[in-house]
Amino acid sequence: MKKIKTIARPNIALIKYWGKRDEKLNLPAVGSISITLDGISTKTEIWLTQDVDKFYLNEKIDIDEHSKIVPFLDYVRDFINDKVYFEIHSVNNFPTAAGLASSASGYASIAKGINQLLNLNLSDKELSKLARRGSGSAARSIFGGIVEMHKGNEPDGSDCYAEQLYSTEYFPLDVVVVITNTEVKKTSSRNGMLISKNTSPYYSNWVNNSEYDINAMKMALREKDFNKIADLSIRSCLKMHSVMMTSNPPLLYWNSTTFEIIKQIEDLFYEQNQPVFFTIDAGPQVKILTTPDYKKHLLKIIKKLDNIQDYYVLELGNGAEIIED
Ligand code: DP6
Repeated sequence: MKKIKTIARPNIALIKYWGKRDEKLNLPAVGSISITLDGISTKTEIWLTQDVDKFYLNEKIDIDEHSKIVPFLDYVRDFINDKVYFEIHSVNNFPTAAGLASSASGYASIAKGINQLLNLNLSDKELSKLARRGSGSAARSIFGGIVEMHKGNEPDGSDCYAEQLYSTEYFPLDVVVVITNTEVKKTSSRNGMLISKNTSPYYSNWVNNSEYDINAMKMALREKDFNKIADLSIRSCLKMHSVMMTSNPPLLYWNSTTFEIIKQIEDLFYEQNQPVFFTIDAGPQVKILTTPDYKKHLLKIIKKLDNIQDYYVLELGNGAEIIED
């Protein structure tokens, strides 16, 4: 029996994705720019089985996760026009659903595995489109380093894909993910995006400004300008959270510790001119980014933080890969 093993890593968006232009095809309303991480990952084993899909996450069957993956696998069956079924075992070496984009690394590793298992010979661009059907951010985890997701304009999503902008060596960044709470979030990104689209008075501004943010970040990256990268990242994050907070019902993903950390990092960057910035996704964890030179100093500050549960020190990582036996 042919069995494929893959690995993929989560990514963190510097310019955020929030909102869809098509829910059914999972097409984002805005483009995004992310970095793929190293040090945390999802490993997946996948093989063909009979009559019914089986999905194990961290060696357990999770009804919620199972109900999300079956429509993705139905799409794969449509795509190849063949009724094949899969047994998939994915294991995360970091807390699932803790705001660390486990769906990104999860679906990227599964898409990579399906491509190999069925000899589809998809290019990485096509693979990113396949991964996107599972989760928008998963399209970005197909690639390593610094990655852009194109929202595209075509109704069928043919121009909606991710691509690598720069490899891992281009701009050395260190990332500290600070865990403030490991409870599963109340509102998933998927539901939250729909709520924001339907109710936030800021949503249309968010969508209309996104191209400017993408282009500004691409220029900052081209110039290797840390301060611009930091400022654009902080503001993209806060704009996204403004849309979230002004949704109805409000989507408040932060806790008091999240806010305390933001205040400290904001002060370090904007007042003390230190090379450090934050970004936050649909959860209370804070991702702090810095240069290798400042990392030691940053870790001293993090060790003094009150009420944090844990932290991970990470670097930039590679895209999805096949693991050879
Ligand atoms: C807040 O990729 O999880 O992390 O496409 O519905 O699966 P779906 O959403 P998902 O959204 C991630 C949103 C975010 C910001 C980002 O990563 O850009």
